[in-house]
Amino acid sequence: MKELHRASDAQDWAFEQRRAGRRVALVPTMGALHEGHLSLVRRARELADAVAVSIFVNPKQFGPNEDYHRYPRTMAEDLARLEAEGAEAAFLPDADEMYPEGFRTWVSVEGLSDALEGAIRPGHFRGVTTIVAKLLHVVPAHVAVFGQKDFQQLLIIRQMAHDLNIPVTIEAHPIVREADGLAMSSRNRYLDEAQRQSALSLSRALAAVRAAAADGADQQDDLEGAAWGVLDPEPGVVPDYAVVLDPDTLSPLSEGWSRAVCLVAGRLGATRLIDNCVFSRAGEELPA
Ligand code: PAF
Repeated sequence: MKELHRASDAQDWAFEQRRAGRRVALVPTMGALHEGHLSLVRRARELADAVAVSIFVNPKQFGPNEDYHRYPRTMAEDLARLEAEGAEAAFLPDADEMYPEGFRTWVSVEGLSDALEGAIRPGHFRGVTTIVAKLLHVVPAHVAVFGQKDFQQLLIIRQMAHDLNIPVTIEAHPIVREADGLAMSSRNRYLDEAQRQSALSLSRALAAVRAAAADGADQQDDLEGAAWGVLDPEPGVVPDYAVVLDPDTLSPLSEGWSRAVCLVAGRLGATRLIDNCVFSRAGEELPA
């Protein structure tokens, strides 16, 4: 696996692959790789001939009081895992490479970036879309694979790629869960045992919403009520939101909705976790 630190070297690598007629996939990550990330790499290998993974803890998507400095950094293990999964290139820039002195161009998707995570983490999505746009220029991939766990991020990145005519397919990959239902996240490692138990209420809230739909609930308030019915009694979680929305626009459900997404977020001590599921009127889980 090639380890590339300079944007120009990563660009040369990607263009070389394309000239050789190979399909290129990019999996953007912030490292601290877990099974969820590795499943993105496996999916990327199914979709392309050459897979590049970027590892960059992007300072521009963290607020001043967030966990940028303590975000887990496990580079040696990450590289060993990527090599074992058959990634062909790892793009590992430092902050000066991506944001050199004088950097002043931002990419921002209006509307979709303002609610939910955007309201709680002002500026977060502007940082995400800016770095993802840059990464897609550095590694001009045919396909880029993102996890569904960051559901709002996924919609925003799809919108950005469409609006900016970036010739890439944005592929969503399902959430990978621990055996007890907890969605895998690099931030799970911050949790102590009690917090980890409390964190299960997020996936239980999603299950309760799907069960309510299966029982015939189809009004947004009733579906959201099913999520709150799990989150409210859980003393270890301070919920930020639990909403049921249209999965394409994040607007309220229409009368005759056929697909919905439930998005939940909560704090366990200093750790924020998010989770979601897309489901049908009959409560079946659906792809993003
Ligand atoms: O989902 C993430 O890990 C990050 O937001 C991403 C897409 C790699 C951009 O920094």
